[in-house]
Amino acid sequence: MTRILITSALPYINGIKHLGTLAGSMLPADVFARFQRSLGRETLYLCATDEHGTPTELAAAEAGQKPAEFCAEQHEIQHRLGRAFGLSWDHFGRSSSPQNAKLTQRFAQTLWEQGFMEERVTQQVYSNADKRFLPDRYVIGTCPHCGYTAARGDQCENCTRVLDPADLIHPRSAVSGSEDIEIRDSKHLFLRQSLFSDRLRAWIDGKKGDWPLLVTSIALKWLDEGLQDRGITRDLEWGVPVNAADWGPNPDGATPDVEGLAGKVFYVWFDAPIEYIAATWEWADAQAAAAGKGPAVDADWERWWRNPQASDVTYVEFMGKDNVPFHTVGFPCTLIGVNERFDGANWSPANNAPWKLVDRLKGFNWLDYYGGKFSTSQKRGVFMDHALELLPADYWRWWVTANTPETSDATFTWEQFQAQVNADLADVLGNFVNRILKFTETRFEGVVPDGGEDGPLEIKLRADIDAKLAELEENLEGIELRKSAQSLRQLWVLGNQYLTEAAPWTAIKTDRDRAAVAVRTGLNLVALFAKVSEPFIPFACEKIADGVGEAFPGRWPAKGEALNALPPGRTVKAPDVLFRKVEDAQVAEWVERFGGAEA
Ligand code: MF3
Ligand code: ZN
Repeated sequence: MTRILITSALPYINGIKHLGTLAGSMLPADVFARFQRSLGRETLYLCATDEHGTPTELAAAEAGQKPAEFCAEQHEIQHRLGRAFGLSWDHFGRSSSPQNAKLTQRFAQTLWEQGFMEERVTQQVYSNADKRFLPDRYVIGTCPHCGYTAARGDQCENCTRVLDPADLIHPRSAVSGSEDIEIRDSKHLFLRQSLFSDRLRAWIDGKKGDWPLLVTSIALKWLDEGLQDRGITRDLEWGVPVNAADWGPNPDGATPDVEGLAGKVFYVWFDAPIEYIAATWEWADAQAAAAGKGPAVDADWERWWRNPQASDVTYVEFMGKDNVPFHTVGFPCTLIGVNERFDGANWSPANNAPWKLVDRLKGFNWLDYYGGKFSTSQKRGVFMDHALELLPADYWRWWVTANTPETSDATFTWEQFQAQVNADLADVLGNFVNRILKFTETRFEGVVPDGGEDGPLEIKLRADIDAKLAELEENLEGIELRKSAQSLRQLWVLGNQYLTEAAPWTAIKTDRDRAAVAVRTGLNLVALFAKVSEPFIPFACEKIADGVGEAFPGRWPAKGEALNALPPGRTVKAPDVLFRKVEDAQVAEWVERFGGAEA
């Protein structure tokens, strides 16, 4: 039996996330995790806040808080909102955890000692006005590649190229706006990514046809352009401290320049992916504490990450396309570097318990808002907190999943959102559940009826349902979100069509047994929908399952059993209104409040 390890890209701590973040990592990961659990597979879905780096320091400063205090507060907010959206994280960790600091330092040490790190004196942007170095996002300027004038020092938002702050044209400080900037020398550690080119290419070539084309093409483009060594330390206060004093000599016998590296921290993109592993450690510690034991032992969490114990684990990552380089190049370099040795020509194992690399990587395009970017600063678009003030989580979950930006970018508009949730959730699913349960209550005392035999309608329905169910399962297993939502919708439609044709309300006037068959079949469809829709709309499914009782405990419906789960004689009841329609007046109000086509 396979175990499934799932991570979604760690949301930055600086502020509440919008629907785009949900669409491009957290929600698809959750749908997949819920599906895997419903198959009865042991599943671990982890996420965390990404707390280090310049965006955090900047946001904390703006809020008038110390980074640690800011992060603690924002972490709680993001955690609460994620749960309210039904995100079924087994653990929602923090990249500022002690576990992550330990692992990050341990990995860095191994990379040094195995010869994958190098010290370099670099030229860093220094602000005379702010009296500090300005790494990464602390500098804003014009992108040397595309000319975008608000490019940040670490990456251009416009062309997604990774930058060095010193590359920017007309640099200015993000803190003070000052252009009084000079270049100063500063010692830093570089991960020698260039050594990994061939090793990575072989690995990624092996993923062609398995990973989405979007992902392999981004990764290969990076390799084709020539892998650059990457600075993995920064002149910042907030982050995991560089612990060079603890390190032994590298293969050339050199020890790091402890003094030159004093007071520096690791780059956020170095420690953030390591938090995937550290979150597992945090999870294991929390499990142990809940069981009244002390801290977890390493084996408790390493069994998900280190081979051979983890050889039955399939590791699946979810992320937006801007994250792909860091997960196909950066993080794999770290993991290969701590696992293997390189003599300049050949790679060989460095230990008996290598850390797992990602098995399946699902990358997404952008979800935008009326064809433009969601914008936190301009308050444009829908954010997780506002979304939940307006409508229950399932409306958002359904729309976002059905419109996941898989093969191209997708656009949110209130008008399309209204049309789709009303049609799919209210008219198809909600209406179906309500019709059949209300009828059972009024004509069959709210009990699953006995008697009668399947006729041609039911025989056809069973075949159609089995086929559609197999398709849904295949799409979910293939992490095809849009196609999965489509299969599920078609399943609901099959139910509605059946009920209309079988028309128990007509049959009951002349043939009670015929009506009983239709009602029993309809109720079984309800139970089936409650089960297989759960990964998408868990809250509504809980209500539906309350109405008909548990039908497929701990397993996904098998072929041939999909419509036999409800025992005759069981009492059922109609849930309260499942989905209220979104009204035109609401849409008008929300367009006004959040900005619509004209914005
Ligand atoms: N915080 C990053 C973003 O939102 C994602 C970090 S993913 C991890 O783009 F690998 F670093 F954890
Ligand atoms: Zn650019």
